[in-house]
Amino acid sequence: EAQTFSWGSKRKTPELEWCSVVSRYTVTTVESSVWNQLPITKEAAFEVDLPSSAFISNFTITSNGKVYMAQVKERAAARKIYDAAKKQGKTAGLREIEKFRVAVSVPSGTQMLFSLTYEELLPRRLGRYELSLGLRPGQLVQNLTVDVSITERTGISFIRVLPLKTNRLLSNTAQGDTDAPSSTHVEQQACCARVHYSPTLQQQNSISSKGLNADFIIQYDVDLRDLLGEVQVYDGYFVHYFAPRGLPVVPKDVIFVIDVSGSMIGTKIKQTKQAMSTILEDLREGDHFNIITFSDKVHTWKKGRTVRATRQNVRDAKDFVKRIIAEGWTNINAALLSAAQLISPSSSSSSNHLSSRRVPLVIFLTDGEATIGVTAGDTILSNAKKALGSASLFGLAFGDDADFLLLKRLALDNRGVARMVYEDTDAALQLKGFYDEVASPLLSDIQLSYLDDQAFDITRSLFPNYFQGSELVVTGKVKPGVKDLKVSMSAIDSKKEVKFENDVLASHIKGNGRISSFVHRLWAYFTIKELLLAKLNTTDPATQRLLADKATNLSLKYNFVTPFTSLVVVKPDAAEAAQTPTTTAATITTTATTTATTKISVAGAGKKPFQPGGS
Ligand SMILES: *[C@@H]1O[C@H](CO)[C@@H](O)[C@H](O)[C@H]1NC(C)=O
Ligand SMILES: *[C@@H]1O[C@H](CO)[C@@H](O)[C@H](O)[C@H]1NC(C)=O
Ligand SMILES: *[C@@H]1O[C@H](CO)[C@@H](O)[C@H](O)[C@H]1NC(C)=O
Ligand SMILES: *[C@@H]1O[C@H](CO)[C@@H](O)[C@H](O)[C@H]1NC(C)=O
Repeated sequence: EAQTFSWGSKRKTPELEWCSVVSRYTVTTVESSVWNQLPITKEAAFEVDLPSSAFISNFTITSNGKVYMAQVKERAAARKIYDAAKKQGKTAGLREIEKFRVAVSVPSGTQMLFSLTYEELLPRRLGRYELSLGLRPGQLVQNLTVDVSITERTGISFIRVLPLKTNRLLSNTAQGDTDAPSSTHVEQQACCARVHYSPTLQQQNSISSKGLNADFIIQYDVDLRDLLGEVQVYDGYFVHYFAPRGLPVVPKDVIFVIDVSGSMIGTKIKQTKQAMSTILEDLREGDHFNIITFSDKVHTWKKGRTVRATRQNVRDAKDFVKRIIAEGWTNINAALLSAAQLISPSSSSSSNHLSSRRVPLVIFLTDGEATIGVTAGDTILSNAKKALGSASLFGLAFGDDADFLLLKRLALDNRGVARMVYEDTDAALQLKGFYDEVASPLLSDIQLSYLDDQAFDITRSLFPNYFQGSELVVTGKVKPGVKDLKVSMSAIDSKKEVKFENDVLASHIKGNGRISSFVHRLWAYFTIKELLLAKLNTTDPATQRLLADKATNLSLKYNFVTPFTSLVVVKPDAAEAAQTPTTTAATITTTATTTATTKISVAGAGKKPFQPGGS
């Protein structure tokens, strides 16, 4: 049984040869072929790990010259199956990843080619974009090729390939390496780069005799000299990347709210204390902070206000953290209200005291559901919204038992984002990593505007915060004939309100094919993501239905597998259609952060209809 496995762009046109990432928009195609040289029929499984923020846009099986193309269909009443899949995925310990799996019986002497394409927009975090490709062929393979090309119009400032990552831990790499895996070639020019990785059998064997089981990770960043960012227009669509560099950091008023209920006992509380200790040391002198711990009762470190991050205060806070003991129930409502009381009104961005402005942030960590006090989600949400005012709330769901949905809705309501922290040995690093993303606010209340008579169907363009190292993205349509898009921005920086205007930014992309049409697909991708978020952010059933309808229509039009659609595969061995609920509750927001997660496995075997998690 020979197997070839190749990863990269499919060369149909010379253009494609050089491009799978165009302006952060990534189209990845995974191809794998099996040739059954045994005298008997064998089952072959095609498995791909893909980022949960990605949408699948094509899947084909080619057998005996015949192409079986999967179809994206409206998702009908598959909700139950999906929930089951979600549960199943949870035990697999996957992070922000979904598993796509299809198994097919391959008759003796037959060759079969699987090809899966998915698309995603790479978010900028901590000053870089990260492209992660899972290489898990399950055996040593003859032809294993990774071929990535990146085109960025404003220039690539750096690109690096990390050592192979052999498990999900942030800290883990193959054999403690610090270099790119051998046989990696990186070619870099001003505006494009190409990465090629093709390990021989021996090289694969030296990593593991069972074949590669790792992530191949590329990090890069772009040059962006214009304060207003970059605008690209193509065929009636535009995308605007906004990520000004070199602005001064605005001090923050940060309140850490930490769940110390009984379920935190043991490793989780130990890791939280460890993370808090490094986070406290990283506070800047101009920052103010406070710490709240909560279980049935709420305990505030410094009563009534936040304190300056002087050395002495940081030392005292670290002592306080050391003494934390976990026990009791979980009173989320009371904890949020206590946090709100500490936010000083003068730190609010709408105040007149801009010269002493601080950005109010609440970092809320919990590993469970509300079990005491107010426990109804909707009541907690409305109480928090009333109390928190203009503070941004960042929700960290520690482990699978946390009420991630509630945290997501809290964050949506309160100018923040929510993240999962996975229960694992690197949880402290995950916590610190998230803090780093929001540690340096640069601008608040950013409004990006486009002349009304030029642009329409625009995605979100008002953002609560812009953090160092992140990027805000807006996309929309432009009226026919519009040559240059007039862009303006207003925001509040460290001291004052700032306004900028510019009208010569838009670069029109010429030509056709995937390079230029990416703007169009990116608009659809982004709009669907926003519809998903908006649906989560409303409780009105009629509005939810309308949003779901719009998202369904767009998903079908662009052939995206989203929570509203299913992939229907006709397999060569069972020429019967079956539903594969490949779904995601993923959220992507245009601010610094969030890709949230659901872990799903999609499986199928023989003639049975696909059952997630089966096989
Ligand atoms: C999907 O892939 C097949 C085979 O590679 C190709 O013929 C087809 O045009 C693709 N479909 C879409 C919607 O891109
Ligand atoms: C590996 O790829 C090369 C070039 O694409 C091809 O000529 C060769 O037949 C492949 N080898 C196997 C074992 O499939
Ligand atoms: C969610 O809805 C609330 C109003 O209920 C609104 O204030 C908030 O901005 C919305 N969040 C997003 C991200 O649209
Ligand atoms: C979705 O498409 C259907 C069928 O084309 C159409 O009837 C419906 O109005 C569309 N819904 C929305 C919200 O665009």
